[in-house]
Amino acid sequence: MFGRSNNDQIIRMKENAHIQLNKLTKSYQEGTKSRSVLDDLELSVKEGEMIVLLGRSGSGKSTLLNLVSGIDKPDSGQVVIGGTNLAGMDENSRTLFRRKNIGFIFQSFNLISTLTALENVLLPLKLKGDSDASAEKKAQQFLDEVGLGDRGDSYPDRLSGGEQQRVAIARALAHEPMLILADEPTGNLDYETGKTILDILNKSVRENGRTIILATHDRDICEIADRVVELRGGKLEQVEPAEFAK
Ligand SMILES: Nc1ncnc2c1ncn2[C@@H]1O[C@H](COP(=O)(O)OP(=O)(O)OP(=O)(O)O)[C@@H](O)[C@H]1O
Ligand SMILES: [Mg+2]
Repeated sequence: MFGRSNNDQIIRMKENAHIQLNKLTKSYQEGTKSRSVLDDLELSVKEGEMIVLLGRSGSGKSTLLNLVSGIDKPDSGQVVIGGTNLAGMDENSRTLFRRKNIGFIFQSFNLISTLTALENVLLPLKLKGDSDASAEKKAQQFLDEVGLGDRGDSYPDRLSGGEQQRVAIARALAHEPMLILADEPTGNLDYETGKTILDILNKSVRENGRTIILATHDRDICEIADRVVELRGGKLEQVEPAEFAK
């Protein structure tokens, strides 16, 4: 089903790649046993591409996004983003790089419970050095965009799962990162809300030339992707449009 030519194509894109994953390997230690999750994985992503990352539960999608964002470090291999190799940096430098360049939408939202919705969206803008007035205006604008303009004063525990996810999306988009990593961004949303969120993410790529890697179980999402890859056995395989529906 997945011929050699597919993997050749993944590798061939290296020349003007914006994100380059080289021989990425990651395993987790459990007691005395080591379980391999990613095995010599390769991927090239061009600037402005929208990549959908498919894979069954436990296949390693979150693990891979955590390595691309620099939240976690590979056992070996390189994560090169815009010419910078994250795997070679210490944790502090990776955090600063992420804060500046990457918007991460977590599978479990990761909102700060002691901050209101608006303050959660404001935080990355302030960390980036925006003035108070400009940050507040932008944060409100992005809350409006995800349909939560009137919930800025609510704390996360007063919001439904889908609402928290939308705040997390506003937070990831607000500081206008060059790369957005989205881990199951529509997993907790009803069909209509999920569609709205995907439209916002898609618009953000098309209008601003941002790059997105979006992990999902949902093959319907593949429609909006420029390219679909699937994690199997620790490696990525390209999925052709005819395969989406299966
Ligand atoms: N911190 C950890 N310690 C040990 N094992 C881990 C850890 N994180 C993930 N794993 C294991 O690595 C594998 C991949 O997990 P991961 O969360 O990346 O999968 P996933 O594709 O995102 O799954 P899902 O679709 O359910 O979110 C799983 O078998 C999981 O148990
Ligand atoms: Mg996951």
